[in-house]
Amino acid sequence: MRRFFSSPVTKTMSSYAAARTAATGKNVWVEFIDLALKYKPANLGQGFPDFAPPTFLKQALARAAMIDSLNQYTRSKGHGRLVQAIAKYYSPLHKKEIDPMNNILVTVGAYGALYCGINSLVDSGDEVVVIEPFFDSYLPCIKAAGGIPKCVPLRPKSKEVLLSADLTLDPDELAAAFSSKTKAVLLNTPNNPTGKVFERKELEMIADLCKKHDAICVSDEVYEYLVYEGEHIRIATLPGMWERTLTIGSAGKAFSVTGWKIGWTIGPAELIAAAHSIMVNCNYTCATPLQEGVALAFEREWEQKGKNDSYFVELPSVLKEKRAEIVKMLNDVGMKPIIPQGGYFILADTAPLNVSFEGEDAYDFQFCRWLTKSKGIAAIPSSAFYSREHSHLAGKCVRFCFGKSESTLQAARARFEEWKKEF
Ligand SMILES: Cc1ncc(COP(=O)(O)O)c(C=O)c1O
Repeated sequence: MRRFFSSPVTKTMSSYAAARTAATGKNVWVEFIDLALKYKPANLGQGFPDFAPPTFLKQALARAAMIDSLNQYTRSKGHGRLVQAIAKYYSPLHKKEIDPMNNILVTVGAYGALYCGINSLVDSGDEVVVIEPFFDSYLPCIKAAGGIPKCVPLRPKSKEVLLSADLTLDPDELAAAFSSKTKAVLLNTPNNPTGKVFERKELEMIADLCKKHDAICVSDEVYEYLVYEGEHIRIATLPGMWERTLTIGSAGKAFSVTGWKIGWTIGPAELIAAAHSIMVNCNYTCATPLQEGVALAFEREWEQKGKNDSYFVELPSVLKEKRAEIVKMLNDVGMKPIIPQGGYFILADTAPLNVSFEGEDAYDFQFCRWLTKSKGIAAIPSSAFYSREHSHLAGKCVRFCFGKSESTLQAARARFEEWKKEF
């Protein structure tokens, strides 16, 4: 038996940790959230909306909590009313009759969906193609499952990158990343952090490789409702892709309630059953009243579809204005923003500012620390969204979140104005 507290202690406590815990590495959020708590900057760092969620959603949750039975465990794969509502809403979007009982898994946020999906697919030594820059949980999740990430970066089409659409996949580089060992490919459209909305021909290229190498596509589409230019295309709707795609969504991102942590995966019954086998022994089920609340929100969206009252119509139009505001602020101080087609993040090149640092850490990390401490504005280093191998591609870019309340944007504007006076 291991003796934790009696001497002699032969191991440090950390040596009891399983090897897979080392796959997690350093988490960028820990440092930059602590920094924001300490310096109280205008927080354009972490990706959550700090404006009020829709009233109908808060009311739905309050009502759900008053119904006794909704305060107990619900169906493990997903609360009945929610899976019905998701199936109804997404069937036309997937051009397919989605079976609420077998084609949907509700999870603790999209994080949970990614974890269950990846762990249900990846065996030790399997390779997973990951398009980068990527949401930072992808690599630790793949590695903890014993998988080997094969990262393929988006590359600039030309020398100057003005729009997220100027970042693209090199077809040969992508094809070379696939092999007989490839189990899955991880795609994120609209992409965090670039805001790129993948075009049909890019998705076709990924789909063809999946089919050729018999790989599954895990498609993270949490920003599906935040598209300003281009069209959100679900890779699952391309020929031959429904059978091999897990499509991930998030109520946190769709309805601006990131604290609710309700996500879902839509896919073929066998893959959903496998993902559920991971989830059932981890969470067993997700919070019932929250699922009921999200169900009511989807039912409302169904009735308001395409109308001005629809949250999925209102949110992108509000965010498009916020995007214009942040672009102006960044341009005014001399940064070079890369205008995103979707999502609520924007990358900006800080190189034209000529700020120099002496430390050995990556430039963008030092810049973000300096920006928070000296200028009172929080941003996130973009190299955190790259593999170590390709982190140099981040250059001097940092990521700002513009999915923020008017008061946060106003505070940021004031601090940018203050900074401008120094020039
Ligand atoms: C691309 C992407 N995927 C997944 C998530 C996690 O979403 P959730 O909060 O629903 O777990 C995030 C959160 O920022 C994200 O940006």
